[in-house]
Amino acid sequence: MIKFDFTTYMKSLNTKDYHTKIEEIKNKLETETDMNDWYDIDKCISKEVLEDVIKTSKYIRKNCDVFLVIGVGGSSLGARAITDAFKPYFGKSDGPKIIFLGSSLSSTYLKELLDYIADKDVIVNVISKSGTTFETNLYFEYIYEVLKKKYSTEELSKRIIVTTDAKSGKLRKLVNQKKYKAFDLPSNIGGRYSVLTVVGLLPIAVMGIDVKEMLEGAKAVDKEKAFEYAIIRDLLYKEGKLVESFTIYEPKLENFVEWIKQLFAETQGKNNKGILPVATLNTGDLHSLGQFYQEGSNFLFETVINIENSSDIYINKYNLSLDKINEIVAHQVAKSHVKNKTYSNFISMDKLTPFNMGYLIYFFEVAAATGGYLLNVNPFDQPGVNEYKNLVKEELSRYEQN
Ligand code: PA5
Repeated sequence: MIKFDFTTYMKSLNTKDYHTKIEEIKNKLETETDMNDWYDIDKCISKEVLEDVIKTSKYIRKNCDVFLVIGVGGSSLGARAITDAFKPYFGKSDGPKIIFLGSSLSSTYLKELLDYIADKDVIVNVISKSGTTFETNLYFEYIYEVLKKKYSTEELSKRIIVTTDAKSGKLRKLVNQKKYKAFDLPSNIGGRYSVLTVVGLLPIAVMGIDVKEMLEGAKAVDKEKAFEYAIIRDLLYKEGKLVESFTIYEPKLENFVEWIKQLFAETQGKNNKGILPVATLNTGDLHSLGQFYQEGSNFLFETVINIENSSDIYINKYNLSLDKINEIVAHQVAKSHVKNKTYSNFISMDKLTPFNMGYLIYFFEVAAATGGYLLNVNPFDQPGVNEYKNLVKEELSRYEQN
């Protein structure tokens, strides 16, 4: 269950004027066909593909020590967010170790990864919609050569899984040539809206997380709440609140906030518009960023994502559970930040469950897309990202060996 509180730590805002605009946006979300299939959960993944994802995840769990997911941005952040949320802090989770590769060009990371996997069985899932992303291609080509030396051609063919566009791109060409196992990435869904497609759901299922429950959670979203949140963000933006801190009190949500950052930044940050999303991890950041939120330039607001019940740890001194103490701190912090006009929205889940995480993913997707439309920008493109991709390609082509 998810609870929303958009009033207690918020200034009173007049949302009435948005009625017509929101009706227009709802209509767009329901009828516009360009990159909008994510809005209908049933279009994110068909029953057959979902069964294939679950079957494949069981195969992966049985046949490797390391499941290597190669991808970046929307092709990696969603799966990372959810698998990290459910990973134990200490010790090993059951199933293979899931490692993500692609979000940096750290040669140390790659070197240590190669050492780590040297004596382990590996299955790779390379994920790229375009098939042209520089980091993904560089790492996949490197790992592919390593695995070619490690496994026979027949064995290798059981260890490569490609998630890419059904028709185009370099990876699709490879699949057609080598007949590797492949999943088609829905052509009408962009990276940051693709967690609930095969892009996110395969790695998530490999972790042993109930992906069907996540989809149920997504279907249960109260969209009116997402529209209300989008309106609040828009009103605050117009008042000069240019930064939104997604504030968490549970480190397991750290990568979930990374995904949220990408969702809002790429959806709204264009044409010199948009709210900059940042992450705050309390209580640690209360002893650093907290000072700024309390007394610094007041151009930001917060959206707190809270988990009410995580464990049965009890603190006798206060006759309270540690979860309750965490919640009390979160509320007192919001109360004190209001004094600097740093307002807070509260989103609380009763427990960290696949259902609740599926709910929140879809909730934030609806809110982000609505926010994009409110700013009159295209919520589904990312020309800025493509800009750098092209420049890197151009420069490196000067060095490319054939
Ligand atoms: O959200 C997006 O569309 C981007 O972040 C992409 O997912 C990212 O750039 C990776 O692109 P691709 O899947 O084509 O490799």
